[in-house]
Amino acid sequence: MTHKLLVIGASGLIGRHVFTLAQKEGFDVIGTRCSNGNPAFRPYNLLEDDIADVMPASFLPTSDAASCHAVICAAVPKIDYCFTHREESRQMHVERTLRLVKRLDAWGVKTIYISSDTVFDGVRGYYDESMPPNPICEYGRQKADVEAAYEEFFPNHLVLRLSVIVGDDPAEGHILSRWHQSRVATGQITCIEGQILSPTYVGDVAEGVIRSIEGNLSGLYHLANSEFFTGEELARQFLFGLGESAKVIPKTPGEIGLLDRRPQKTYLNGSRFRQATAMSFTSMSEVFRRFRQRAGAEEGQISLL
Ligand SMILES: NC(=O)c1ccc[n+]([C@@H]2O[C@H](COP(=O)([O-])OP(=O)(O)OC[C@H]3O[C@@H](n4cnc5c(N)ncnc54)[C@H](OP(=O)(O)O)[C@@H]3O)[C@@H](O)[C@H]2O)c1
Repeated sequence: MTHKLLVIGASGLIGRHVFTLAQKEGFDVIGTRCSNGNPAFRPYNLLEDDIADVMPASFLPTSDAASCHAVICAAVPKIDYCFTHREESRQMHVERTLRLVKRLDAWGVKTIYISSDTVFDGVRGYYDESMPPNPICEYGRQKADVEAAYEEFFPNHLVLRLSVIVGDDPAEGHILSRWHQSRVATGQITCIEGQILSPTYVGDVAEGVIRSIEGNLSGLYHLANSEFFTGEELARQFLFGLGESAKVIPKTPGEIGLLDRRPQKTYLNGSRFRQATAMSFTSMSEVFRRFRQRAGAEEGQISLL
């Protein structure tokens, strides 16, 4: 009996890792892309296309499959884009996403929605799943609206809330690669003053999705590393891990020129998920070590420890 998994947004950071791990684990897996040209994935635009054209009838749940899931990673996860393109982003992130969930639900496909710590106002911090969302930015409001619809209409499906996701590949798009590029180009790293985050390794997110499927989790979970840092401290420790120096400059969102509000202390209490899956998370020191190794191998600039 195989698990079937549809990865919507497999060309993105998180979707790519989920897709690769699911294949490695022997899942029957289909991935979608939107603007990316990777032929390994099927073209699918949430705003225009019908999921029935992507998902062949043979992929629908059958009695000989252990499970049939779809993980929804398709989004334009940019806080200021949601602020400046409120209607367009809401259409994609809320209306079309929920229409997709409804369609998949009707076929018996269980969906996993990837949400965000921006559903919180960031005043208290160390949030667990029982604490009510109170988003202060449009991106967070869109995430919270989808979560609310899951709670009301799709309680047997799964929402996984994440904090900031980091990777060990300098060529992928995440906060560490952006900081690395900024350090090389300007000798400086700018971060948002006062933010406290639970940086979580993207490979752990992929593993968390697989474990959730194998454990048949439903409801809401925080898929987050137990380590937490201020943005400034994460940048400093990243530099120590790289063995490099740069000026770390904390700035307010206004000083950086960000448009919408940013919640400050959004670090998550992920103990419920860890208990449910018995998963252990990769430390940031290990992520930094791997990043340094890969950056050194690719650029020939950073000597290995
Ligand atoms: N990365 C983080 O730190 C983080 C933290 C918390 C939550 N999340 C959530 O995790 C999810 C995935 O994030 P990510 O970082 O992997 O994002 P990403 O790297 O930007 O990937 C987004 C994916 O969505 C696809 N996509 C964009 N517009 C689409 C459309 N109109 N129709 C269909 N697909 C579309 C992209 O396809 P193409 O590239 O082919 O256009 C890509 O595969 C998002 O919901 C995000 O809010 C991410």
